[in-house]
Amino acid sequence: MRKIVAANWKMNKDIKESFEFTDTLVKNLLNIKQTEVILCPPYTSLFYISELLKTGPVALGAQNMHFEKSGAFTGEISGSMLKSSNCELVILGHSERRHVFNESDKTIKKKIDEALAIGLKPIICVGEKIEERKAEKTSQVIENQYNAAFAGLTEEQTSKCIIAYEPVWAIGTGLTATPEQASEAHSLIRNLVKQQYNENIANNMPILYGGSVKANNAEELINTKHIDGFLVGGASLKVESFTEIIQIVENK
Ligand code: PGA
Repeated sequence: MRKIVAANWKMNKDIKESFEFTDTLVKNLLNIKQTEVILCPPYTSLFYISELLKTGPVALGAQNMHFEKSGAFTGEISGSMLKSSNCELVILGHSERRHVFNESDKTIKKKIDEALAIGLKPIICVGEKIEERKAEKTSQVIENQYNAAFAGLTEEQTSKCIIAYEPVWAIGTGLTATPEQASEAHSLIRNLVKQQYNENIANNMPILYGGSVKANNAEELINTKHIDGFLVGGASLKVESFTEIIQIVENK
């Protein structure tokens, strides 16, 4: 199984900061052979840092996009704009998009379809809120989000996707899902893929964990069944801690 560590910088780092981070990261990763690393900076840094990533193992992703190809959508960014900024991937359905910007499953689905149509690989985020976990609705929430996202996708399209399980209550809070909680959710997701497609597609689907991943909990989590890597927010903002997490995954 591929191992992946992705950085979600959210609304952090201007061009100079992005450049300095990436310049150091690329040098730090010279001995990384097996782990795919993805950087998702703000839109403004994409093209600029892509120059540093041309030869190395690091791929570039965006944090969001619009589902239309072009038009009167002030402030929005299209998939082809991302591609022309040398992006290969795009995070879709992040909980901050769902819950702060009120993106529905329907909107997220349109974005996933457009990303695939234009040749961007979606990193599709799912995860429950704390009140949903307390009400024992975690499985239902994940299943609904999964079904909405993957409806009608062909095997070929699905094999281009990455799924990130990010319990909302663990994002940016310092709380992490226990290995048992994460493993349960990841195995549920893998089963959903298996039911819709087949065992081969399910076993090859990278399922990342996200939510307060740090260098001091990465080892325990990466050794957990069904966790194929991480989507890292806070700890991806410092090149030292992000490099440390990548090394832990690489040495697994
Ligand atoms: P966090 O964010 O690592 O800061 O919890 C993860 C994410 O939102 O992708």
